[in-house]
Amino acid sequence: MTIIVTGGAGFIGSNFVFHMLDKYPDYRIVCLDKLTYAGNLSTLAPVMDNPNFRFVKADICDREAVNRLFEEEHPDIVVNFAAESHVDRSIEDPGIFLQTNILGTATLMDACRKYGITRYHQVSTDEVYGDLPLDRPDLFFTEETPIHTSSPYSSSKAGADLLVLAYHRTYGLPVTISRCSNNYGPYHFPEKLIPLMIANCLNDKPLPVYGEGLNVRDWLYVEDHCKAIDLIIHKGRVGEVYNGGGRDGRRNIDIGKLICKELGKPETLITHVTDRKGHDMRYAIDPTKIHNELGWLPETKFADGIKKTIAWYLENREWWETIISGEYQNYYEKMYGNR
Ligand code: NAD
Ligand code: DAU
Repeated sequence: MTIIVTGGAGFIGSNFVFHMLDKYPDYRIVCLDKLTYAGNLSTLAPVMDNPNFRFVKADICDREAVNRLFEEEHPDIVVNFAAESHVDRSIEDPGIFLQTNILGTATLMDACRKYGITRYHQVSTDEVYGDLPLDRPDLFFTEETPIHTSSPYSSSKAGADLLVLAYHRTYGLPVTISRCSNNYGPYHFPEKLIPLMIANCLNDKPLPVYGEGLNVRDWLYVEDHCKAIDLIIHKGRVGEVYNGGGRDGRRNIDIGKLICKELGKPETLITHVTDRKGHDMRYAIDPTKIHNELGWLPETKFADGIKKTIAWYLENREWWETIISGEYQNYYEKMYGNR
């Protein structure tokens, strides 16, 4: 079994590579990644010498490079994590999101059609459903919830999802889609909320909370997401969408307070800054379908997962300190300097 994992040098993709190499010692895992600002080859250092692993630096939009890789590797399965993934960056500059997230997905699927695969899996997001109101805690996203996007990021992911389903209907491509809630855990790039707050807290810097911080995210430990995708590519029904979430909704402000508490820092580090444009209020996933069909349930509760995550950032300071000492400084100044 050969699996091409795109975006495997990023947060969730790298965790998936580790999970698969560990669980299936007879599988070949080929990682295709462009190494954008969010991709980090040092993350994959522990598996670089594994004979069942290969890393290829390429852009999923590069048809020639993608086709060449398919000719060399004859993959059985493709799991597409590669994407521009940060909502704030999409608000600043949508173009690359359309390019990578939509055209890159089409390029990969064209190769799948040309060379033949048993499964193309698209890693999508709960953000394609838009948001839910704070005063309706009874509402959850199901797979039947209409697509109703808010940001250029979520719109590009929704565009890709529609293409994936169209390739299934039109060409019979054997596809599946997972739409998952916010992940957290090791190797999370430090411009996203949880790692940014951990890093800032450790450096006694302000923790920027957008607006009042009442927005709710449904946090899922990254290992649980990897297990969900593993189940879907092996046992999921072709042409189907599966939602995944932690059933663990938290307000951003409470995340900030919890991180301060865990690290023994004062809550006065929390600073309210100008809100994100078009900011989604609440995400909440109903994972009944993946539970009933595939037996998946999140295993790590947020209270445990956040402790494990903080411990990881304490033990792996070099990983994130290297990142935040580089180009990240310019990003940080641009996004938070006058906010
Ligand atoms: P990330 O930003 O940490 O990593 C993205 C990876 O894709 C990087 O390694 C980057 O180099 C690579 N990449 C970007 N453009 C590429 C291109 N054109 N060609 C090849 N590689 C390219 O992202 P993440 O948080 O790990 O998210 C992975 C996937 O999961 C994305 O598709 C995202 O939409 C989806 N998702 C993320 C979350 C979350 O909470 N982070 C939740 C649900 C779904
Ligand atoms: O729901 C799944 C999505 O989760 C994925 O599809 C995206 O790829 C992923 O980045 C994530 O999107 P969010 O926008 O929810 O994540 P982010 O970490 O950027 O923000 C989480 C919440 O925290 C959101 O309400 C905005 C807020 N926030 C974020 C940052 C970076 C702050 O208040 N301050 C910050 O500095």
